[in-house]
Amino acid sequence: LGTVEVDLSAVPLGQTATIKWRGKPVMIRHRTPEEIEAARRDDNAPLRDPETDASRAINPEWLVVVGVCTHLGCVPIANAGDWGGFFCPCHGSHYDVSGRVRKGPAPLNLEVPTYSFTDDGKIIIG
Ligand code: FES
Repeated sequence: LGTVEVDLSAVPLGQTATIKWRGKPVMIRHRTPEEIEAARRDDNAPLRDPETDASRAINPEWLVVVGVCTHLGCVPIANAGDWGGFFCPCHGSHYDVSGRVRKGPAPLNLEVPTYSFTDDGKIIIG
C-alpha cells in the first residue's frame, strides 16, 4: 500500500502524465533531448533552491515531481511558464523542466517523490 505503478509507454515524448499518489498529484514528464540539455545547462544558472538536474532525475528522460506548488499548494500546469516546465497560475510561480523554481513566490523546487524503475518499463512511486 502507498505505492502506485505507472506504465511509461503510455506517456509520449514531450508530454506529462498526472497520476494520484497518496492523495497528491504526481506529474511524470517524458523529457525530450532538448529539454534534458536545457535542464543540464541551467545547473549553472542562479537558482533559488540550487539542485542539479542529475540529482532530481535519476533517468534523465523522466522527471517525476509532486504537482503541488511549494508556495501555497496549488497544482501547477505542466509544459507551461517561461522555462517551459511548470507554471502555477495561483500567484505566478515558474518552474523549469527540472521542476526547479525560477521565478515567482515559490520558495522551493517541486518535490521529487521516492520512485524506482522496473525492468519492464514501469515506474513505481512510493
Ligand atoms: Fe503557486 Fe502561490 S500557490 S504561486
